[in-house]
Amino acid sequence: MNFIDKFVLPPTPEHAALLNVIQVLAMLMFIPYSGMITGGLILSLILGNKGKTDPLKKQFSVDIIQKLLLNKKIGYTLGIIPLVTIILVYFQFLYGNRMVSLNLMILATILFIIGFIFMYRYVNRQKLFELLKERSNDDNSTIELLEEYNKISGGELTHRAGVISITFILLSMFLFVGSVTVTANPLKWESIQNVWEFIIDSEIWLNFLFYILLALIISTSAILYFFLVWQGGIKNRTLEYLEYVKLFSSKLGLLMTIISPVFIALSLFFLPQLSLSPIIYVLTFVAFAIIIIIGNLYYQLLKTSASGLTAGIFFTVFVLLSILIVKDQLVLGNAIKPHLSSVVFVKAEELSKEREANLTTTTGIDAEKIFNEKCSACHKFDVKVVGPPYNETVPKYNGDIKKLAGYIYSPQKINPEYPPMPNQGLKQKEAEAMAKWLIDKVGKK
Ligand code: HEC
Repeated sequence: MNFIDKFVLPPTPEHAALLNVIQVLAMLMFIPYSGMITGGLILSLILGNKGKTDPLKKQFSVDIIQKLLLNKKIGYTLGIIPLVTIILVYFQFLYGNRMVSLNLMILATILFIIGFIFMYRYVNRQKLFELLKERSNDDNSTIELLEEYNKISGGELTHRAGVISITFILLSMFLFVGSVTVTANPLKWESIQNVWEFIIDSEIWLNFLFYILLALIISTSAILYFFLVWQGGIKNRTLEYLEYVKLFSSKLGLLMTIISPVFIALSLFFLPQLSLSPIIYVLTFVAFAIIIIIGNLYYQLLKTSASGLTAGIFFTVFVLLSILIVKDQLVLGNAIKPHLSSVVFVKAEELSKEREANLTTTTGIDAEKIFNEKCSACHKFDVKVVGPPYNETVPKYNGDIKKLAGYIYSPQKINPEYPPMPNQGLKQKEAEAMAKWLIDKVGKK
């Protein structure tokens, strides 16, 4: 943390408002993407395992990889970069706070990257295998040979890369979701001191399970859309297969959608009053309404088989995610408000003053000499002469060199008990040097 403190600057209030927007945008990329690969990997691995006896499932497992796990560049843009951004924002918001979950966020990022690397190993091995199969020109003996080879090496290897990948991604997401949970609940800032307390926290588990549930909603809605509609759907597959994909995904999606309100309501229940505000209840209500719409769309899809509905589902799921993300950001905002105003903003102001002081070039200007020549006739530090003592007036400026320099450069009437101060005709730079000198001097007394 010490190391990080050197690189992370505390934001000013305006900067913090901008960071909020950045955080929401980054979440809008990261959550759908991570949800899609988490759900995609889980489904592909489970179906792949069952697919040993059922070619339909095997095919589905392979197709999920092709359609959902996307390519590496998209992965960097929607996964890694937003994740790193989100974590940097957290560090800025919590400047000066050493809670353990911040370190766990860094660990989460590292684990995510490892999982990400293994995921592409899984994807590429599957792709290679499919490619070899295609190139074999339906030569049965070659296909058999390939299957054989896959059984003894490639298949196992492929599967293992997938298992390693999902293990790391799940671990990473547990830490990520857990850290977000802790940050949104100030009562936990002190109480959670180590990883063990983190692991046994029921609120963290609740939110993590909700994440898995969202991941399955995101991935099944993406499967439905990418397999059936987008760019004309998936090519060269039997009707039986498409029907199977549709039934499987819409049933699973519908089930997850129906139980999701329970998680959303419970997560509010865990939060302390100070993290909540009326708008959060309003957004929760809106989220419930959208869930009802999604549930209805799934139901229609199951009943009528109109594939066009899948685009609606995919889009509405994204709307739901946006609402939930904005809601969580507002919760975070309430939770960190006291810390921002008592620590972060104060520190930011101090730093900006320090920076200003350093920027004020006083080289070549001898403030003490100016004081003796132009000011000492009317001013002393501790007693009133013609003008008020500096020890009484300078502290008012609170270290603000620019403001004090402004006064010295062109004095205004201030105190009715004194006559106005005549303009001493200093240059701008001289006034600044004077102000810095006075602030330094009074500060030391
Ligand atoms: C002719 C007398 C005179 C001289 C010379 C003079 N001042 Fe003043 N100064 C005053 C008076 C009178 C006031 C009170 C003005 C008021 O309160 O409106 C004052 C007020 C101030 C204050 C307090 C402002 C505040 O916010 O209350 C500062 C700081 C100050 N002078 C700095 C300087 C500096 C620096 C110099 C030399 C470059 C200087 N003065 C030269 C008479 C003088």
